Amino acid sequence: MITGLRSKLKQFIKMVPKVVFVLGGPGAGKGTQCQNIVRDFGFVHLSAGDLLREERANPNSQYGELIENYIREGKIVPVDITCSLLERAMEESGKERFLIDGFPRNQDNLEGWNRRVASKVQLLMVLFFDCPIEICTERCLNRGAAGSGRSDDNLESLKKRFNTYQVETKPIIDYYQKMNLVRRLDASLSPDEVFNQVKNVLNESNLQ
Ligand code: C5P
Ligand code: MG
Repeated sequence: MITGLRSKLKQFIKMVPKVVFVLGGPGAGKGTQCQNIVRDFGFVHLSAGDLLREERANPNSQYGELIENYIREGKIVPVDITCSLLERAMEESGKERFLIDGFPRNQDNLEGWNRRVASKVQLLMVLFFDCPIEICTERCLNRGAAGSGRSDDNLESLKKRFNTYQVETKPIIDYYQKMNLVRRLDASLSPDEVFNQVKNVLNESNLQ
């Protein structure tokens, strides 16, 4: 009886999805490092920005135009749209460990997440890719010049994106910092050097 209960409990614990949030300014290398983490640590990578761009490209979506306007202006899309996309992607993956990249990006994102999802998952940590604005700008402009095809990898959109990051996203990082969940990485270094830091952080944490 106790054994049965214990295995049921184990099953239950296993089923609670684990989440790592990935935050940092535009061009801080979140996407690049997430790919590395997926390869070596077996997480599912869900980029809020990518999911929004996918939704924008769907001709049947009623939100395409709204999303494009927000992205071009570097503003944060209302959370119900983003959270629905994230929840659907989590469900469809059938997996249990998620890197949620570029979310929560402002107070609205945070409140929506706390209202809709937080109690159903375990938040393991927030990886904070900290990078000076000059380096981030250069990376994004290079990415644009190399043909990223992104409508927001231009100087005008970038200024707005950085402003949004400073004014809206930084306080969210501070909020998680107070909960002791933030792991800061020096994201100004080369991709390999940043990944070494990431590996140290993840290896030190109990990810089971
Ligand atoms: O993370 P990424 O740079 O791909 O995000 C691109 C844009 O997508 C953001 O500048 C913002 O307009 C939108 N976005 C959003 N809400 C999020 C993540 C991204 O509105 N949580
Ligand atoms: Mg990205």
